[in-house]
Amino acid sequence: MNSKQNPDSATASYTMGYSDEFLQLLDRRNAETNAAHLLAHLKPGMRVLDLGCGPGTISMGLAKAVDPGETHGIDMEESQIEIARAAAGAGGHRNAVFRTGDATRLPYEDSSFDAAHCHALLMHVPDTDAVLAEVKRVLKPGGLISAREMIGSSSFSEPAFEALADAWVTFAKLLEANGSHPEMGKELPRRFLEAGYSVIHGSASFEYFGTPEDVAFYHAFSVSWFFAPKTVEAAIKYGLATQEKFDNWRRLLDQWRDSPGAVSAIAWGEAIGRKP
Ligand SMILES: C[S@@+](CC[C@H](N)C(=O)[O-])C[C@H]1O[C@@H](n2cnc3c(N)ncnc32)[C@H](O)[C@@H]1O
Repeated sequence: MNSKQNPDSATASYTMGYSDEFLQLLDRRNAETNAAHLLAHLKPGMRVLDLGCGPGTISMGLAKAVDPGETHGIDMEESQIEIARAAAGAGGHRNAVFRTGDATRLPYEDSSFDAAHCHALLMHVPDTDAVLAEVKRVLKPGGLISAREMIGSSSFSEPAFEALADAWVTFAKLLEANGSHPEMGKELPRRFLEAGYSVIHGSASFEYFGTPEDVAFYHAFSVSWFFAPKTVEAAIKYGLATQEKFDNWRRLLDQWRDSPGAVSAIAWGEAIGRKP
């Protein structure tokens, strides 16, 4: 557990938690790889919002792209905001501002942002429409909403041991049991349209673990997160898996890591919408 974790400030619906292992996954992210679809639309001077910013690794790149404009990162978890503030200070990103808050009740003025982005946030918030309505309220007319969210069913590991694919299905069901949306990445354009935005961009890409170092990281991350007692207990509690299944998956995960040419990929859908 991260020493700065505050268990009380995380809602029960957020599945991933704030362990050091999960933070190591977020640490690998940046705006160039995780918000590439949005960067071409950002210009110096814009005011940008990053919802569910976590430790802010993506927010820093957004701040660089709009400098001297500001990027505001918001997350419901204080420990994440503290990490983001420290990183902004250390990196000299004076135009990156962070605060705690709920994406369904944004503490910002109406029509006050040129663009709002979220990465792996809509998939975790049960009430998608509430977030999209709040973003619409705080965007200026003509402002952009951007999201990159997981597509669980298109994510894979190779060699594709059938039982390991079953582990992915169980992870998706665990998310759903917590009110999350593991397929949100491919629903984005429809969700944006239903919320009253026009859609100006749609794409998909993979977070790819293809080098031996990546495979070792993905294996270690899976062991520490998916096989953590908390995750195993939750899956068993919801009737999604048994201890025997987890034991088998754990064995296969080692086999996958040791297979020549092993790769794994998380699929992401991306979309940009415009407020009328
Ligand atoms: C998977 S992490 C993604 C962090 C970051 N965007 C990234 O991709 O590196 C999801 C983040 O969303 C935050 N979060 C979840 N529900 C939220 C809500 N309703 N309001 C604000 N933040 C929320 C969590 O605290 C967590 O830090």
